Amino acid sequence: MRSRKARYLSFFALMTAVLIWSACVQKRMDPMTGEMAPEGKLDPADVAIDPAHWGKLYPIHYQQWKLTSEPTPAGLSKYKRGYDVGEERRDKLDEYPFLALLYNGWGFGAEYNEPRGHYYMVQDQLEVDPGRIKAGGSCLTCKTPYAPKLAKDMGQAYFPTPYKEVLARLPKDKQTLGVACVDCHDNKGMALKISRGFTLGKALKEIGLDETKLTREQKRTFVCAQCHVTYMIPKDKDMHSTNVIFPWAGSQEGHITIENIIKQIKSSPANGEWVQAVTGFKLGFVRHPEYEFYSNQSPHYMAGVTCADCHMPVMTVDGEDLTDHRIMSPLKGNMSACAACHGETPVQLRQKVIDIQDRFTDRYLKAGYAVATNAKLFEMANRARSAGKQIDQELYGMAREHYEQAFYRLVFVGAENSTGFHNPAEGMRVLEDAANHASAADMHLRQLLAQAGEKVPEKVDLELPKYLNNRGAKKLQFKPEHEVKPPTIVR
Ligand code: HEC
Ligand code: HEC
Ligand code: HEC
Ligand code: HEC
Repeated sequence: MRSRKARYLSFFALMTAVLIWSACVQKRMDPMTGEMAPEGKLDPADVAIDPAHWGKLYPIHYQQWKLTSEPTPAGLSKYKRGYDVGEERRDKLDEYPFLALLYNGWGFGAEYNEPRGHYYMVQDQLEVDPGRIKAGGSCLTCKTPYAPKLAKDMGQAYFPTPYKEVLARLPKDKQTLGVACVDCHDNKGMALKISRGFTLGKALKEIGLDETKLTREQKRTFVCAQCHVTYMIPKDKDMHSTNVIFPWAGSQEGHITIENIIKQIKSSPANGEWVQAVTGFKLGFVRHPEYEFYSNQSPHYMAGVTCADCHMPVMTVDGEDLTDHRIMSPLKGNMSACAACHGETPVQLRQKVIDIQDRFTDRYLKAGYAVATNAKLFEMANRARSAGKQIDQELYGMAREHYEQAFYRLVFVGAENSTGFHNPAEGMRVLEDAANHASAADMHLRQLLAQAGEKVPEKVDLELPKYLNNRGAKKLQFKPEHEVKPPTIVR
């Protein structure tokens, strides 16, 4: 038999163990601090990053956030049907065939799917044509919530290290986690915060803003601008990625124009990320510039409306007003976001959006085919030169400058995901300039080809099937049923 004292001691030891254990568990359970007991196995950063932990305190926000994994309601959006219930996913190259010609030569010309819910952002990179993740770790910058940690831990090596190697550094069950609570919220107190100081933080300085002094209203837009912006991935001489930079130098808040973005892209040969197969030109690129396009004096931006106002409307649950975390097209939320400010019916508002998008699409298609025709004329000129014909270098140079000006404008408005809605007048302005540059290039090219003795037909054969079929590693075939046809415009 043990003595009374020994029993007392073992009881005491047990109680102490229970206390320590529960303190650990409690710490492990505390999603807001992310702090762990020293002997805990979980990395505090992982705790803060895992939305399931936050979900214990905010179950409805967590549930709405998770709903971005669901297909979106069908029949409500005209142009954004990429992942609607019962619909096939859509590739921009099928929707706008001239893009298959223009982007031929790298991953974007193989597969370029329309966006879908936030849940899929990393998963979709693993599924898309492997040519799309060649830039390496850089590609994870606007996808994984681990990006800031990776950039800090790996330093310069983060950018060029092969994509899958970088991904493999993350805990296995978190490798496909997309944008998480910690990307937009401070885990102590839930205020909105910018988590990507290494990209957006730096870019804000370029446009005269200080990351630490943003108002709540500004953050309702800038949390999205961590990713819904364009960027450059400058290359070293071996074409390895060296950084992720937003081309905002020389711009001001509210005035990041495509003109300035083009100037930045063209400011260094390091920004030439790929070679366009049809022309042989080394070019830069523009991706999803939602923030730049929207903030450039759109009527809503001028009225102080934020990204969250339209994409994260108020929802009422058990009499409590919450911010809806199922981020998607407002058309698919039946225009409830717009109703906060507009008195029209959802049907009327939806029609207004579609009218704007139809006008935009009409011009976009015209400009797109004009730029694609330029590219084919360069192909002819290059061939003629290889065959020993005399090509006027001055005309060629002028044509190339106009072509690049037209090309980047076209890529800009087409990579922007609102089909013109975010800034209707700016969309039309940029497309008009694109069309003018394309027609100047066309004129110079036809002149130099005529001088070289080449016969150029009025309507150039774009040979689209060549670019649309057998795309990339998956040998994707053109899906004509997904092509966006010129809309009927009621003038
Ligand atoms: C960490 C980067 C990141 C942040 C932050 C982010 N997004 Fe996204 N967003 C993406 C990516 C990537 C996609 C495309 C995902 C895919 O197709 O797999 C996307 C897709 C979307 C879509 C399309 C959804 C659909 O159903 O097709 C909308 C709308 C959207 N984002 C709006 C926003 C808004 C508004 C904010 C700010 C409140 C925001 N995003 C913040 C990266 C981000
Ligand atoms: C893409 C950015 C983004 C992500 C990711 C995000 N939130 Fe939010 N969240 C917001 C915005 C914007 C607001 C509105 C805040 C404001 O206006 O002050 C908000 C507000 C909130 C609020 C305050 C109450 C309310 O409803 O307005 C809570 C709580 C919250 N979010 C929880 C979460 C949780 C939990 C997650 C992860 C499952 C999460 N959020 C992920 C952007 C985000
Ligand atoms: C005034 C309302 C409004 C504001 C403000 C707004 N958007 Fe949108 N957004 C829309 C509408 C309408 C569409 C078109 C949706 C469609 O065609 O289904 C759209 C489309 C999008 C899409 C593509 C959606 C899809 O389903 O593929 C993304 C991504 C997006 N917006 C992000 C943003 C970001 C980021 C901001 C802030 C910089 C922003 N939006 C500001 C109304 C708004
Ligand atoms: C936070 C308030 C707010 C929200 C939310 C909002 N708008 Fe607006 N909207 C405005 C204001 C203010 C103007 C007027 C700007 C001006 O005329 O200078 C405007 C103007 C417009 C216009 C151009 C004028 C017109 O009526 O033809 C359209 C179209 C429009 N909004 C559609 C929408 C749609 C669609 C949504 C939802 C996706 C939406 N708005 C969400 C405040 C808002």
